Amino acid sequence: MAFPQAFLDELVARNPIEEVVGQYVSLTRKGSNLFGLCPFHAEKTPSFSVAPDKQIYYCFGCHRGGGVIHFIMEHEGLSYPDAVRFLAQRAGLTVPDDAGYAAAYKRRERLGSLCRDAARYFHSCLQGPQGEAGRAYMARRGISPKIATRFGLGFAPDGWSGLLDAMVAKGYEKEELLEAGLVLRSQKGGFYDRFRNRLMFPIIDVRGGVIGFGGRVMDDSKPKYLNSPETPIFNKRKNLFALNIAKKSKQGRIILTEGYMDAITLHQYGFDCAVASLGTSLTEDHANLLAKYTRQVVITYDGDAAGQDATRRAIALLEKTGVQVKVLRMQGAKDPDEFLHQYGADRFRLLLEQSENHAAYRLESLRRQYDLTQDDQRVQFLREAAQLVAGLSGAVEREIYGARAAEAGGITAEAMALEVRKAFRQRQAQEKKRREKRDLAPAASAQPQSREIRYDNVRSAMAEEGVLQLLLKEPALFERCGEDLADRFSSPLLAKAFRLLRQRYEAGMAVQLGALGDALTGQELSHLTAIAQKRDSLVSEEALDDCIAVIDEEYQRAHVAGSEDLQAFRRRLLEKKGYGGNDTWKTQRN
Ligand code: UTP
Ligand code: MN
Repeated sequence: MAFPQAFLDELVARNPIEEVVGQYVSLTRKGSNLFGLCPFHAEKTPSFSVAPDKQIYYCFGCHRGGGVIHFIMEHEGLSYPDAVRFLAQRAGLTVPDDAGYAAAYKRRERLGSLCRDAARYFHSCLQGPQGEAGRAYMARRGISPKIATRFGLGFAPDGWSGLLDAMVAKGYEKEELLEAGLVLRSQKGGFYDRFRNRLMFPIIDVRGGVIGFGGRVMDDSKPKYLNSPETPIFNKRKNLFALNIAKKSKQGRIILTEGYMDAITLHQYGFDCAVASLGTSLTEDHANLLAKYTRQVVITYDGDAAGQDATRRAIALLEKTGVQVKVLRMQGAKDPDEFLHQYGADRFRLLLEQSENHAAYRLESLRRQYDLTQDDQRVQFLREAAQLVAGLSGAVEREIYGARAAEAGGITAEAMALEVRKAFRQRQAQEKKRREKRDLAPAASAQPQSREIRYDNVRSAMAEEGVLQLLLKEPALFERCGEDLADRFSSPLLAKAFRLLRQRYEAGMAVQLGALGDALTGQELSHLTAIAQKRDSLVSEEALDDCIAVIDEEYQRAHVAGSEDLQAFRRRLLEKKGYGGNDTWKTQRN
């Protein structure tokens, strides 16, 4: 039986793979993955991994892998439909008919377009005669008109039905506005605008869709910020303000702030990598989302007690994902917005460079794990500390924190420096070996483990794998892949996976391997999960373009060689794509 895709998505979402697998296998966390002894083959050291961010499992020993449905099929020996029923039961879901779920997805799409239209309305109010007060407030806060446009800022007029009337005129139902959190229902049963006389900040997801709003009062009344409630499309625990822009930053880090204004002012001062958590403390979902786009997060929460507390919690969550965490401390200003207006971008940049590498915090945590009055524990501590310090990126940092560890462990700084140097050399040797292994890997080792799946053109296949990895992390990149990209894939399996994922993307469903249903054999799914589990690059349009260039080149070599020169061919393909990356909701697809 074919289950509706939307139901399978919910099934997979409600059965987190780490939980389900955790009921059968004892798992320990290592970086962003969990490891345990493989339930499918006998082993003494754990090579079975679960990746919660990708919702897949993969065994590096026996090369079995897949999503949660497949795990249950293998483990419980169930057929595909029975595994689905099993998981539905586990999550308390009823197996639905197609129509109900299709309708739910339609509704979400409709809410998305309503929010986009609302953002357009607020934006035009800000620019029109009604927006006078909003513009004056913006000027007082030092927000430039250019940045207001980049963020699609708007103004909610001071009335009860400005937005309501405008949206009803556009053909939306009042109930839809209610569901989108844009209007409220009065006691008498009428409807009125939720956001009134406020400066409006549209909240945009990583795909570029408007999903909600924050609105600020322009005086001291309360609440200072009013936010959209949770709706079928807006979940503040899963979205970060300005990430739609920051994800494209070339600055090599993401700056995490507490407030809308902080993020916006940072962007205005050239830090296009700033995001804000939406008035909640950072969640695990936020942390995983950030780790998709960057290797370094700089936390710039307020310096007060609550801010420090939030900082500590954020550090713990972020470290679990494997990103490097830094903490920026400001003096003389309450938050980045204030700091920048007072001291300027250069001073902030200085703080950024000096921001604590976080080594102090990690060293301190390490120290607390040992009883340093016991010699053997002291030795163990110093050994671990040397590893930690050796992993720091700057020589000065290694010296400073080495000395600190030495002091804690009661040895001389010189003795510690020796230990650190030794650990440092070991790391470099390991790193070099890893690089060589990767670079010099004979083409054969890139071949799939399964004999039934062979790559005819390994170079192209590696690039095809790269494309799939990127799309799994960032489905919006589908917009950048030409319609016929899969036609130029050398591997039929990878092309098939690409097309299946693309269908899901176009239907507005989660682009995930685990939910692909039974369109793939277990072996094929294992192979695809192996790809998703490989060490991969950060999401960027450039990374995708590089892969596509290789695919085109190989395709050209095999199919059109001689008939057209390569440059012309590539140019033609690029033109065909006709993609323009852009910032605000204005460019959202219809
Ligand atoms: P802050 O109170 O620190 O304000 O709230 P701020 O960001 O410095 O704002 P400005 O500079 O006074 O304009 C931090 C964040 O907490 C959420 C908002 O996301 C805000 O940006 N918040 C705050 C709310 O959601 N509601 C509130 O009433 C206050
Ligand atoms: Mn502020």
